Amino acid sequence: MKKIAFYDAKAYDKVWFDQWNEGRFKIKYLEHKLTEDTALMAKGYDAVCAFVNDQLDRTVIDLLYEQGIRAVALRCTGYNNVDLDAAEGKLAVYRVPAYSPYAVAEHAIALLQTLNRKIHRAYIRTRDYNFSLERLIGSDLNGKTVGVIGTGKIGKVFIKICEGFGMRVLAYDPYPAADLNVEYVSLEQLLEESDIISMHCPLTRESYHMINADTLAKMKNSAILINTSRGALVNSKDLADALEDGQIAGACLDVYEEETDMFFEDQSDQVRKDEILVKLISLPNVIVTSHQAYLTHEALSNIAKTSLDNLEAFFEGRECENIIRKSEF
Ligand code: NAI
Repeated sequence: MKKIAFYDAKAYDKVWFDQWNEGRFKIKYLEHKLTEDTALMAKGYDAVCAFVNDQLDRTVIDLLYEQGIRAVALRCTGYNNVDLDAAEGKLAVYRVPAYSPYAVAEHAIALLQTLNRKIHRAYIRTRDYNFSLERLIGSDLNGKTVGVIGTGKIGKVFIKICEGFGMRVLAYDPYPAADLNVEYVSLEQLLEESDIISMHCPLTRESYHMINADTLAKMKNSAILINTSRGALVNSKDLADALEDGQIAGACLDVYEEETDMFFEDQSDQVRKDEILVKLISLPNVIVTSHQAYLTHEALSNIAKTSLDNLEAFFEGRECENIIRKSEF
């Protein structure tokens, strides 16, 4: 039986992987993230299962290859954490291209409405038997303009939800979707005209820090930025400054550019903290969740099933459309 070294395992992963495994593989759940220091733990295994904050750079890939690993099943959509050049000819890298675009799009809306309607503050107040409505005023979404950056699977679902709210939708994507009836505009126009801007594009060399001091300066002072995609799409320092200076009105963040060693873990006892994140979290007009957008029962189930099917296809030598081919990026 083939053996899988499963890095960064959480209890909620095990539930679904055990259920869908159906005796196909021997899975060793490791709590450690995959790094240069932990790659040797894959010795004696046939494949690795990794997540968003596992590190698959050249050093780690070479170490895995030397241990006899030939396949990596990413249990996520994005693969910005993998050096595909280094993996070429050594490791077959698979991903889960779609497990629930609804999970992420719906979480983006949950963050937006929490911030917009001040639900987080109301929750704390009513628990304290404080029923005052002072400073809880929000805005109707109906009639507002939402700018969607990236109109792939998640962006499309997000757009549909926004249309349900009666919003005007603007979209920016270098590869517009032929099957989407939406007003595509330049990034500049989107930034200038949108009341809400939501990011649904991958992190690439081109999109790194696409939200920075210059692009933030183009947004309305009343704009709310939502990022449920990847932290490094946004220059966090520039964002914190823009929020503090009132250049934009708020931010909903499910991802953070320096999240790797923090998100998914209980860090409440840590004294030394990331200064920019501390600042962002302290602002009343910022909501942060720790890369939680994907976390629904449906998504976790689909992730487990697809990841295991990907590995099965690899070991049986079958074609699998979920392999990441270098020619595609
Ligand atoms: P997708 O591949 O279906 O769509 C991405 C879209 O972004 C494509 O239409 C593409 O043309 C467009 N795009 C590429 N470069 C762009 C750029 N520079 N500017 C604007 N648009 C650009 O991907 P999907 O499934 O919609 O996921 C989007 C992103 O969401 C993923 O790359 C991932 O980073 C993030 N994600 C976050 C999760 C979370 O839990 N927070 C879970 C799943 C995905």
